[in-house]
Amino acid sequence: MKNEKVLIVDFGSQYTQLIARRVRENKVYSEIITYSKNLNLDLTTVKGIILSGGPSSVKDTFDKKFLNVLINSNIPMLCICYGMQAVAKFYQSSVKSKKIREYGKADLRILKESNIFKGCDNNFQVWMSHGDSVIDVNSHFDIIASSGNNNISAIKHKTKELYGLQFHPEVTHTKDKGKIIKNFLINICKFRKTWNSKNIISDTISEIKSQIGKDRVILGLSGGVDSSVAAALINKAIGKNLICIFINNGLLRQNEENEVKQAFKKFKNLNIKYINAESLFLSRLKGVTNPEEKRKIVGKTFVDVFQKEAKKIKNAKWLGQGTIYPDIIESAGTSANAHLIKSHHNVGGLPKSLKLKLIEPLKSLFKDEVRIIGNELGLNKSLIMRHPFPGPGLSVRIMGEVKKQYADILRKADQIFINRLKESNQYYKISQAFAVFLPIKTVGVTGDGRSYEYVISLRAVETLDFMTANPVHFDNDFLSLISTEIINAIPEVARVCYDISSKPPATIEWE
Ligand code: XMP
Repeated sequence: MKNEKVLIVDFGSQYTQLIARRVRENKVYSEIITYSKNLNLDLTTVKGIILSGGPSSVKDTFDKKFLNVLINSNIPMLCICYGMQAVAKFYQSSVKSKKIREYGKADLRILKESNIFKGCDNNFQVWMSHGDSVIDVNSHFDIIASSGNNNISAIKHKTKELYGLQFHPEVTHTKDKGKIIKNFLINICKFRKTWNSKNIISDTISEIKSQIGKDRVILGLSGGVDSSVAAALINKAIGKNLICIFINNGLLRQNEENEVKQAFKKFKNLNIKYINAESLFLSRLKGVTNPEEKRKIVGKTFVDVFQKEAKKIKNAKWLGQGTIYPDIIESAGTSANAHLIKSHHNVGGLPKSLKLKLIEPLKSLFKDEVRIIGNELGLNKSLIMRHPFPGPGLSVRIMGEVKKQYADILRKADQIFINRLKESNQYYKISQAFAVFLPIKTVGVTGDGRSYEYVISLRAVETLDFMTANPVHFDNDFLSLISTEIINAIPEVARVCYDISSKPPATIEWE
């Protein structure tokens, strides 16, 4: 399956991951490499190359040696935006910088038939985002499409399967119905569609088996999607030799432990050790109010508890982790060892003294692929489609000092909010929703008396990448219903607010 792949060379485009997603949607395996000078290229299993766009100008960053290797490999190439300008320049065509970036929708006109536009309309909308432009091409190329005032928008090499597109076929604003990328993969590169969940599962299971043999693996199970799917896959491969450690840090959501038990009910031979370390975590957090300090304490305590438990497991040679592909590519640009750094970071900087080797069965998968596989393996929807939950847990949703009383109040309020979202079919349409505890007292009236109790704020956001987010606009009656229910059910709460801040300037979590 991975023995034929598309290599995506990232020149810093914001859309590179999207290109990889589009390729995978066509059931073809794709890998991203970040362009750098003197990059060590291995093209052995590469059947197609995609050059991404990028913010640079070919005037400043052009690397003829690098392109020479790619072009002379005679592997079909799809060169997008910056990629097209780079190949045009490679063949000494004229590329010029315009002072103003061309950004937004444009109408594409097909000028010449070619495999890349097979099945596309003669005119359709495309999405442009570029500064440099190819002004003219020489005898190496045919101009196969234009836009606006005869701007060159698509070119094809006369003798090679080498295509340049000035626009972005990977974004949904380009109305080609996904045909361009599909044509490139299936008609031009001749990929077989082998990247599907059944193959991914069976290949990964055999990889795990041959890697691990009869050794034992330990894995920190959190109740989140990634660690759960990683556990399910490793369990299918090595059964009881996988030992999962579930640590209750006192900062989990209501019923978290039971939900995990429920989710894995069908996995008869899954070994899970449940550790209750609530009092240790809370005692270390006592008196601490600084958000970053709280995060560090939770991370460090997790490592301490995990290490202590791991040492009790004889013959454990491996540490299983739910690292996913975006974790790797997001950190890859920053350091040569980024993969390692990020992996360790995922479990809060894991102790080197454990001397465990890493096994990361999800490391080539995107989040939605992880979900599909989890579903196929029999994990239930409520776990697979669960909103993300931060590693430091409720400690970043309780403002200031963390106390058990506050965590208990918050858990109840959060559960009411989440249950109502699920009942009204809104939960799975929202990216993340939760309650926040404010340790300030406000006055209320209950029955005949006055109350003087705490504040809960509700937070719900829509986001694609969690880098920016918008608050969800709920129906007012729905919010009123939840407010009433929380105040009635939890005597320690006198007031419920709804957070209407966007990110930026606010963050999603309150701390
Ligand atoms: P912010 O608050 O930075 O959150 O807008 C963006 C996303 O990241 C999650 N988050 C964390 N996840 N450890 C985690 O594992 C953390 O310390 C942490 N802080 C924020 C947050 O829940 C949201 O999904």
